[in-house]
Amino acid sequence: MRNIAVIGYGVVGSGTVELFEKNREEICKKIGRDCDIKYICDLRDFPGDPYEDRLVKDFNIILNDDEIEVVAEVVGGATFAYEYTKKLLAAGKSVVTSNKELVATHGAELFEIAKDHGCNYLFEASVGGGIPIIRPLNKCLAGNSIEQISGILNGTTNFILTKMIKSQMDFDSALKMAQELGYAEADPTADVEGHDACRKICILGSLAFGKHIYPQYVHCSGISRITLDDVEYAEDAGYSIKLVGTVKPAGNGRISAIVCPRLVPKNSLLSSVDDVYNAITVTGDGVGDVLFYGKGAGKLPTASAVVGDIIDCLKHRDRRIMIDWEDCTDKDYVVPYKTTLNTMYVRIKAADAESLKPAVTELFGKVLYLERNGRPDNELAFITPNMVEADIDTALEQLSKSAEIASKIRLM
Ligand code: HSE
Repeated sequence: MRNIAVIGYGVVGSGTVELFEKNREEICKKIGRDCDIKYICDLRDFPGDPYEDRLVKDFNIILNDDEIEVVAEVVGGATFAYEYTKKLLAAGKSVVTSNKELVATHGAELFEIAKDHGCNYLFEASVGGGIPIIRPLNKCLAGNSIEQISGILNGTTNFILTKMIKSQMDFDSALKMAQELGYAEADPTADVEGHDACRKICILGSLAFGKHIYPQYVHCSGISRITLDDVEYAEDAGYSIKLVGTVKPAGNGRISAIVCPRLVPKNSLLSSVDDVYNAITVTGDGVGDVLFYGKGAGKLPTASAVVGDIIDCLKHRDRRIMIDWEDCTDKDYVVPYKTTLNTMYVRIKAADAESLKPAVTELFGKVLYLERNGRPDNELAFITPNMVEADIDTALEQLSKSAEIASKIRLM
C-alpha cells in the first residue's frame, strides 16, 4: 500500500525518502503490513532523481488521496507548513515533522486539531535531530517531576564553536562549512542568534511541564558576539563556551527558560560535546540526571527520527499517541530572566584597565580575575559572584562609564 507522502524534498525530505526506501522491507515487517511512499511534494524539479515519478507539485493531490495515512512535513517555517498541516490533520491524516518552528509556535493548536480528527501530530525530529528525547521525556521519564532540562540544542552553532576553539577557524568559514554539510537553517540567523535552540527548549519545556511555552517570552542570545579572546580566557580558566538552552520550574507554577552562550566547566558532561553533536540533560526527582547524546542535525540523523514517527503512526493507525501539551495564555508563565540568579564572565577594555580593579570590587564584591596568554594592558576579564541578573546589569552600566564592556557570558 502506498500510504505515505513527504512534503519538502530538501535535506531532511530526501534523507527521509532515502532511509525509508533503504530499509523498507524491515520497516514493513515492523509495521506489520506493506507500506510505501506514494508522493514527494516540492515545487522544484529534480530531473534524474530516482524517485522522480513520485514527485508532485500540487499539495491537494496528497490532501485528496484517501490512500495517504501519514504525511511527513519537512518543509520548515510556520507559514505554508502551518496551512498544510492544519488541512491534513483536519482531513484525518497523521502528520510527522522536523519543523521545530511550527511546533514551538502552533503546537498546542495542532494537537487539538489532531485530537478532534482522530489522528496524530508527532515531532520527534524537531529537537536533537536523531536523538530520541521527545518520547523518553513523554513516557519513560513521565513518573518524575522534572527539575531541569538543559542542553546543547543546535548542531550548527556547536559545530562553529568547536571549529573556532579547536581549529582556530574563523566564524564565517565555520558557518559556511556547516551550511555545506546541511546542518544550518535556510536562513542561518536562526541558528547563530539562538532562535532555533530557543524553539527547541520551548518544545522540551512545554512537554515536561504540560503548558505551551511560546518562544517570544524566552530570552535568547546567540554566538555571533563570541570572540577568540573570550575563548582563550575561558580555556585558561577551565571552561568551554557552548550555546545552552535551559528550562526549569521557577515556583508558583511558573517556569524559567533561557538560551544563551555559557561558560561550561570542562569537567561537566556538556563540555565535551563537540561538532554537530547535541546533548540534553534531564534532571528528574526520581531518576536524577539523564544524558541524551547524538547527532543533532544533518540529513540521515534527522530522517531517522522522522521515519521513526512515520512507523509509529502506521503501527497505531487507529490510536491516538498522546504526546502533547495544553495551550497557555498566561503571559507571566515564563519569569523575566532579569530576576534570575547568574554568575557572569565579563571582559572590559580601558586605557589603564588594572586601575579599575577597586571599582570592580566596589560594584560586584569579590570577583575572580582571569588570564590569557599575552593579555593586553587595556583588558581585564573576571567572573562575578552569583547575583540577580538585573543587579549585574546595573553594575555593568556603572562600569561602562569608565570602560568598554566587551563581553558578558553567563556561567553554567
Ligand atoms: N539547524 C539546526 C541545527 C538543524 O543546526 O541544529 C537541526 O534542527
